[in-house]
Amino acid sequence: MSHSMFDLLTRKALFTLDPETAHGLAINALKTGLIRGTTLPVDPALEVRLWDLTFPNPLGMAAGFDKNAAVPDAVLALGFGATEIGTITPLAQPGNPKPRMFRLVKDNAVINRLGFNNQGHAVAYQNLKARKSSKGIIGVNVGANKDSNDRTEDYVKGIAAFADIASYFAVNISSPNTPGLRDLQARDALDDLLARVLHERDRQTARVGRKVPVLLKIAPDVDEFGLDDVCAVSLGRGVDGLIVSNTTLDRPARLRSKKLLTQAGGLSGAPLFAKSTIALAKTRQRVGPNMPLIGVGGVTDAISALEKIRAGANLVQFYSGLVYGGISMVPNMLLELSNELKTRGITSLDEIRGRTTADWAKLQLSSD
Ligand SMILES: Cc1cc2nc3c(=O)[nH]c(=O)nc-3n(C[C@H](O)[C@H](O)[C@H](O)COP(=O)(O)O)c2cc1C
Repeated sequence: MSHSMFDLLTRKALFTLDPETAHGLAINALKTGLIRGTTLPVDPALEVRLWDLTFPNPLGMAAGFDKNAAVPDAVLALGFGATEIGTITPLAQPGNPKPRMFRLVKDNAVINRLGFNNQGHAVAYQNLKARKSSKGIIGVNVGANKDSNDRTEDYVKGIAAFADIASYFAVNISSPNTPGLRDLQARDALDDLLARVLHERDRQTARVGRKVPVLLKIAPDVDEFGLDDVCAVSLGRGVDGLIVSNTTLDRPARLRSKKLLTQAGGLSGAPLFAKSTIALAKTRQRVGPNMPLIGVGGVTDAISALEKIRAGANLVQFYSGLVYGGISMVPNMLLELSNELKTRGITSLDEIRGRTTADWAKLQLSSD
């Protein structure tokens, strides 16, 4: 059976199930090898070098799919150039009551209010330690427990716990589903958080013999002034990169899944593309050409991935797109990206990065 036929059938079957059950089945199928990637030819034009890492291609699995690092190698084997595990909090926590994840099928979108359901640092760390090979790029996305007395300290604990094993860190202060978490994006709170997190990273550098890059993951629901602050503080503290963006609390008027759009939580997938790309371009203008940026939000195919890069991203991530596109999506996108670059005589993604930053940055950060 062809991969796309398999996708169509599994998608049909999975879509009859509640989204979280389907997600659990997908994780299990990856764990047991029922779903497996194929070996892909490497195209040097797609390679991205950042910090001390070489990404074989710019497509990464976004945080939230493999929260507990149960299947990092199987995810990489789907063709991704990197996978970001988490968000992980120091202690295990159940998250919000179910149901808490919804498919907006007509909109190619998802709403979730999972609320950092995860098994805690220890389990994810053991899973990563148990890998047979240390090959592949695995980002570790860290967060804070809902009931923590000192949320900033939870991030510091994450850095300490995973420094010897993370390819890079993502500091997630932008989930809308932990009440008050996004307050950490305010200027003074963020400055304090980054000072403490980067101090811990520097302390760990001596222990692990490597300076692990620390990236900050931000929300798209910011205004121009909020973005000014986040960028100024990030530059001032020397953050290694930004991930733009997490899900949005907006419910654009054009959404067609009228019944589900009233569900609380973060919206992701196709309707997030414009907003997150505008935020990305505005971020690129503020941080200048040298800070690495990961563009995420609403990527559904090779063209939208390429547009993130043209808008200013060094790397791209997605999650919701995969829910609708299935596992043949990544190899198909890689092939299309390669062909597109070849046709246009482009030998490195550096040649197109930022081409449309100015156009995107002119647009408003509003919901439509
Ligand atoms: C079900 C679900 C769970 C998610 N969980 C996390 C998470 O734990 N941590 C995080 O930083 N982002 C999380 N995200 C956000 C994604 O990483 C991504 O930023 C967002 O969905 C936009 O990308 P997309 O449109 O390609 O899905 C989650 C998204 C979804 C759909």
